[in-house]
Amino acid sequence: MSPEAPLQKAYEQFKSLNLNLDITRGKPCSEQLDLSVKLDGILNGNYISDEGIDCRNYGGLGGLQEARKIGTWLLDSPSDEIIVGSNSSLTFMYQYISQAHHHGLEGDGSAWNSFENGVRFLCPTPGYDRHFSICEHLGIEMIPVAMTGNGPNMDQVEALMRSDDSIRGLWCVPKYANPSGDVYSDETVARIAKLGALAASDFRVFWDNAYSVHDLTDQPAKIADIRQLSLDAGTENNLVQFASTSKITFAGAGISFLSSTKKNLKIFTDHLGFRSIGPDKINQLRHARFFETQADLNQHMKKHAAIIQPKFNRVLELLNTELGDQTGVTWTQPKGGYFISFNTQPGLAKEVVKLCAEAGVKLTPAGASFPYGNDPQDSNIRLAPTFPTIDDVDQAIRVFIACVKLATARLTA
Ligand SMILES: Cc1ncc(COP(=O)(O)O)c(C=O)c1O
Repeated sequence: MSPEAPLQKAYEQFKSLNLNLDITRGKPCSEQLDLSVKLDGILNGNYISDEGIDCRNYGGLGGLQEARKIGTWLLDSPSDEIIVGSNSSLTFMYQYISQAHHHGLEGDGSAWNSFENGVRFLCPTPGYDRHFSICEHLGIEMIPVAMTGNGPNMDQVEALMRSDDSIRGLWCVPKYANPSGDVYSDETVARIAKLGALAASDFRVFWDNAYSVHDLTDQPAKIADIRQLSLDAGTENNLVQFASTSKITFAGAGISFLSSTKKNLKIFTDHLGFRSIGPDKINQLRHARFFETQADLNQHMKKHAAIIQPKFNRVLELLNTELGDQTGVTWTQPKGGYFISFNTQPGLAKEVVKLCAEAGVKLTPAGASFPYGNDPQDSNIRLAPTFPTIDDVDQAIRVFIACVKLATARLTA
């Protein structure tokens, strides 16, 4: 019997179960969403903010003062450098880049789409697919940069910035990066803070701190203070930070934050004023009341961890037991965030995703974490265990493992 035969048989057995499982997107599960149901009704008819604003009405483009306190906790920035938006930080990112692209950040003639040679963004890979979609949608060319385990390869980033003056953006997810789980080292953050000195004045570091309080262990990773380091380097105008409560309260009904210098915020909100008369202040007020103090937020995040950590542990246990001695495969052991990043032997990721799909297990498309969907090694697969039940996670990962084993055996046959 060929070494492939028992693996093929195990795979066929899974197929015969007619499974319908999905571990594609990093969404909170219902139990996590249940942690925030008290948002509903928390205002109890009182819509007046501490500043005396009737939140039911129009206005307040920069968001409620009292909701900014949450932004200060998530982004380590003072409240007068924060604006609060509606339910998606990704919308803020899109709006910021769209403004730079269509209108420019520095007045007449600065629109990125008016530059003869276009503009480029540096994209640490694997990275967040929706960051890359924004660039692709706007026709901004993406240059992949390798992740190292401590953030982007800064030698590569600096060399590219020195040799290409069309670079206008660097995507960063500094803590528990999507999908690699990387926590940027102090050295990486310090070097990123200095990039503005190598770049055009409208270059921006897009600091998407989506997972700043999403620790899975009792030892939260601590990242260096990018804002202070940028102030020290005189590059503070090159920094724009983002966060939201999407994976803290309700993914579809949270509040978002954008932080930058007052100068940058004014340019941004002037433009925002054409799109909106103001954000959903009722939801902002609900959030401000729900999290009275930072300790409330920390307690709440511990409850999230208690729900999802067992799911991560189950995936890691199964991978260790079943694939621990398999050569050429690697995976991350994240201390927070929403993902485990898995690498097959080169050339197998698409095949594994296809085999899984045929056995009723939906995975994120191979290559999704790379600019233009192109993983040059065809080896990276993002696993997202938070949304399904632990039994479904268990089943899906067993199928995944069977597919990895089968694809690897076929390759070496
Ligand atoms: C790195 C990163 N940024 C932003 C988002 C989306 O954030 P929001 O819901 O605030 O738009 C996600 C969601 O998966 C993410 O992983």
